[in-house]
Amino acid sequence: MTTLTWQPEFALQQPRMDRTHVEFVELLAATENASPGAAADAALRALLEHTQAHFEQEERWMGQLGFATENCHSMQHANVLQVLREVVSRHGQEADAALVRHLVAALVEWFPVHATMMDAALAMTMAERGFDPETGALRVAPATAAPAIAGCGNAACG
Ligand SMILES: [Fe+2]
Ligand SMILES: [Fe+2]
Repeated sequence: MTTLTWQPEFALQQPRMDRTHVEFVELLAATENASPGAAADAALRALLEHTQAHFEQEERWMGQLGFATENCHSMQHANVLQVLREVVSRHGQEADAALVRHLVAALVEWFPVHATMMDAALAMTMAERGFDPETGALRVAPATAAPAIAGCGNAACG
C-alpha cells in the first residue's frame, strides 16, 4: 500500500504552493491507479509535466528571494526530475508496471519529507519577507548586500 493522501501537515499556508502540492498528490495517485500500458504512460507524462512546472515555480520564487542558484532545495528538485524523466523515457520504450510501482513508492516517501522541510522553509521565508508570489514583490526588502541564501532556509540543512 503506497497511496499518499493529503495530510493537514502538508498545508504550508502558502495558497499557490499548497494548491500545487494538492495537484501533485492527486497526479501521483492517478499514476498509481492507472492501468498498465497507455494509461500509465499518460499519467506519468502528466506527473512529469506538472512536476517540472511545480519545481520551476518554487525555484523562481527562491531566485526572487535571493537564494543562491545552487541551493540544496533546487538540487533535490533536479535529482527527482532526473529520475522522473528516466522512468518516463524507459516506460515509453517498454511499459513496465514494476518501474511505475517503484517510482510511486519512492515519491510517496519523498514528498512528505520534502514538503514539510524544504518547501516549509521556503514558505516561511516567503511569509517573513512579505513575498507576493503573483508579482514577485517583497514587502520587506532584503538588507543591502545581503549574502545569497546558500541553503534551503531549513535550520536542519547545512
Ligand atoms: Fe513543492
Ligand atoms: Fe520543493
